[in-house]
Amino acid sequence: MALTPAAGSGCGASSTPPPPTQSERPANSDVEWDNFDSHAYLRHNYSALRADDREILCRTRDFFADAGLSDVRCVDVGSGANLYPALSLLPFARAMDLCEWSASNVGWLRTQIDGYDELWDPYWQVCAEHPAYSALADPRGRLAQVGRVRQTSVFDLPRRTWDAGTMFFVACSISADRAEFQHAVGRFLSALQPGSPFAVAFMLGSRGYHVGQRWFPAVELQRVDVVASIAAGAYDLNVHEVPPTPPLRDGYLSMLLATGRTHG
Ligand SMILES: C[S@@+](CC[C@H](N)C(=O)[O-])C[C@H]1O[C@@H](n2cnc3c(N)ncnc32)[C@H](O)[C@@H]1O
Repeated sequence: MALTPAAGSGCGASSTPPPPTQSERPANSDVEWDNFDSHAYLRHNYSALRADDREILCRTRDFFADAGLSDVRCVDVGSGANLYPALSLLPFARAMDLCEWSASNVGWLRTQIDGYDELWDPYWQVCAEHPAYSALADPRGRLAQVGRVRQTSVFDLPRRTWDAGTMFFVACSISADRAEFQHAVGRFLSALQPGSPFAVAFMLGSRGYHVGQRWFPAVELQRVDVVASIAAGAYDLNVHEVPPTPPLRDGYLSMLLATGRTHG
């Protein structure tokens, strides 16, 4: 995820003064997600491929390439204005559901699904450094064929529905309520069939983030919090911390990628 030139991934566009919201610790339902500025978020985070996103994408690519997937149902949760998690699953997808709650982000995703912007070509090129991906000659056409945008909350995901999934910079960045962070991780994992490979990314130490003029809440997480939230629902867990090089924005410590498989 990344918001812009101080950017990289997943959350935010600029530095992080205290939240101008009514609640001290806003819950997901306190936030006006429909006004999320998809274009500001895209510009800040993904207009140029950052080293941290490249590293996360390479690791995710290698993980899915080794996972033995073929012709499966895939999901990316809280896609926002980021296509690279979906690209990391594309060669293996019979169907690719992009589940997002914000109406503005759903609208942006629908503009991308039938022919995504050139901005994403460098991200695909990173994928295509692996033969499992370069075998897919027309990723744009494939996403148009298998992709579907669904306006769905992570908290309402159906259970045991997909065979592989990603959720990048979502559970950490949709609420200031720690219980909601844990709930979001749990719902994501239980939306996958037992044994499904998954990749999830988090901002560590985030105190919230701006997108355009608006401030959005976060849960200030440490690595141990993320591992604890995933461990009960997964096995073969692998966790990798990606230092900010340079930081995407103020107000966070690093990014963390976790891969694994879901328990039954
Ligand atoms: C920090 S952004 C991350 C976006 C993207 N995954 C990325 O990697 O940059 C958090 C995303 O979660 C979405 N979101 C907020 N509440 C949600 C919910 N209840 N269910 C699903 N997505 C939600 C937001 O609209 C936003 O797109």
